[in-house]
Amino acid sequence: MKVLALNSSPRGDGQSKTAIMLNSLIDGMREAGAEVEVVSLSKKTIKPCAGCFSCWTKTPGKCIHKDDMTRELFPRWLESDLVVYASPLYHYTVNSEMKAFIERTLPVLEPFFIATEGRTYHPLRSKAPKVVMLSVAGFPEESVFDQLSSWVNFIFGKNSIHENALVAEIYRPMAEALTVPYYQNIAKDVLSATHAAGQELVASQTISKETMSKITQPMVSNPEDFLELGNLMWKTCIAEGITPKEFGAKGLVPRADSARSFLALMKLAFNADAAGATDARLQFKFTGDIEEACYLAIHKGTITGAIGSVDQADLTVNAPFEVWMDIVTKKADGQQMFMEQKYTVEGDLGLLMQMDQFFGSS
Ligand SMILES: Cc1cc2nc3c(=O)[nH]c(=O)nc-3n(C[C@H](O)[C@H](O)[C@H](O)COP(=O)(O)O)c2cc1C
Repeated sequence: MKVLALNSSPRGDGQSKTAIMLNSLIDGMREAGAEVEVVSLSKKTIKPCAGCFSCWTKTPGKCIHKDDMTRELFPRWLESDLVVYASPLYHYTVNSEMKAFIERTLPVLEPFFIATEGRTYHPLRSKAPKVVMLSVAGFPEESVFDQLSSWVNFIFGKNSIHENALVAEIYRPMAEALTVPYYQNIAKDVLSATHAAGQELVASQTISKETMSKITQPMVSNPEDFLELGNLMWKTCIAEGITPKEFGAKGLVPRADSARSFLALMKLAFNADAAGATDARLQFKFTGDIEEACYLAIHKGTITGAIGSVDQADLTVNAPFEVWMDIVTKKADGQQMFMEQKYTVEGDLGLLMQMDQFFGSS
């Protein structure tokens, strides 16, 4: 099977979630024996369709533009058995690079009108490849792909001129979480299912329901926490004057702005392996701008927490909220601040020393 895999994300490898998903898919395809060629569309020159219909009249089957699409990509697309259109979801559809590519496949059609069962078509001039649509989105709900899916089914699906060319649709919501260290276990599962999908596509031209449900599984148990943390990340980016890419590269932690968001962040950052058999109740008593108490309870590798006070705390931290957030976000050194008496603790000092390990991704 000859596969042409097109990635239209303008982001580089490592940062592009489309590329991360596509790489797993094509690894699986290659392992199953497919010959896969990958093209990054943002590195190619693909002019917009001029709408002149020369490809239907003067030079049938050939576009007037002299660019990478005419010279290289359209001939390769025609020779392929299967094309993977891999695009980030932009404004609920494929991005403009991908749309330009798809529009420029117009020469594969003939101009004539044919009508079947109330729908008008232009007939195919020659065989076109089967289609897999892969897309990733920032928002968490699967329904963000509804419009894209409807369009893709209309032009490549059962009743289209492409005669049931659409083999599979792979949609990953909340894809930005794929590179967040705290979601690494789920991300691994999603990517290994995407790898399996590549193998299944080559073997049987379908993706099993089981594999698909692993690909689309929720990345977080509580999407509201994720939204809150996402908003904190954006606030931190704005405050620091940096992009999300720079935020990631610097290994920054979002800065909580309430005891509630502090708890959500700490639960997310909790490293069960590092905590091991630790059994501890950590009480935080914040003063200053945010006067609130909250606590975290670590027990057998799990963590719970709530606003308020816990009975028999093993460690109590009394700190101005902003001082503690400076420490959490590594703007200030915890030990230094302790020596300077910017905060005080009561109880097991050993727990204070271990906090960096309990709440870190490594
Ligand atoms: C211009 C633009 C439009 C976007 N539109 C949507 C959207 O409609 N729905 C959504 O869930 N995410 C949207 N996103 C977020 C991207 O889909 C998301 O960040 C994705 O992971 C990017 O994929 P990439 O890393 O491969 O470039 C948009 C991003 C940009 C830059």
